[in-house]
Amino acid sequence: MTHAVCPGSFDPPTLGHQDVFGRVAALFDEVTVAVLVNPAKTGLFSIPERMELLRAVSAQWPNIKVQSFTGLLVEFCVERHISVIVKGLRGASDFDYELPMAQMNARLTGVDTMFLAAAPQYSFVSSSLVKQVAGLGGDVSEYLSPQVHAALVAKTAMIGG
Ligand code: PNS
Repeated sequence: MTHAVCPGSFDPPTLGHQDVFGRVAALFDEVTVAVLVNPAKTGLFSIPERMELLRAVSAQWPNIKVQSFTGLLVEFCVERHISVIVKGLRGASDFDYELPMAQMNARLTGVDTMFLAAAPQYSFVSSSLVKQVAGLGGDVSEYLSPQVHAALVAKTAMIGG
């Protein structure tokens, strides 16, 4: 059994994330999408909200499950016998950010990281950018699943964005 993890903040999950999930689900027997619980950073969506959205957008792949984690990602991996971390790369700045983490993670426990090239239509899409644009009234519906888009519109209206 090959088991990979797709870790991230997913605040909220975008179609770029979803594209990576589907491709990873085709490559590995089992995939865990792992949401980081970061006590130092409150996001727009709560962790349970993000997990619900992630379960909805990954429901079409039966070998994907969604969990949250605190602490070191590699410890989460070792405890669950996950051998590979998979991340999407949108460009060189992602690579610069990801490479030291991948190298550190490999040194800490031997868990390797693989990178998937982002689909070009999502190479400029990020959770932070869609939140900013939606908060200022822009249309981000083409970058999110309908459920995530509805949740973002509702959240934006709720906080007066
Ligand atoms: O979506 P993000 O915020 O870019 O995801 C970053 C994430 C969650 C993958 C990364 O911050 C992480 O792995 N955090 C867990 C803590 C950890 O293991 N830190 C050491 C990394 S070498």
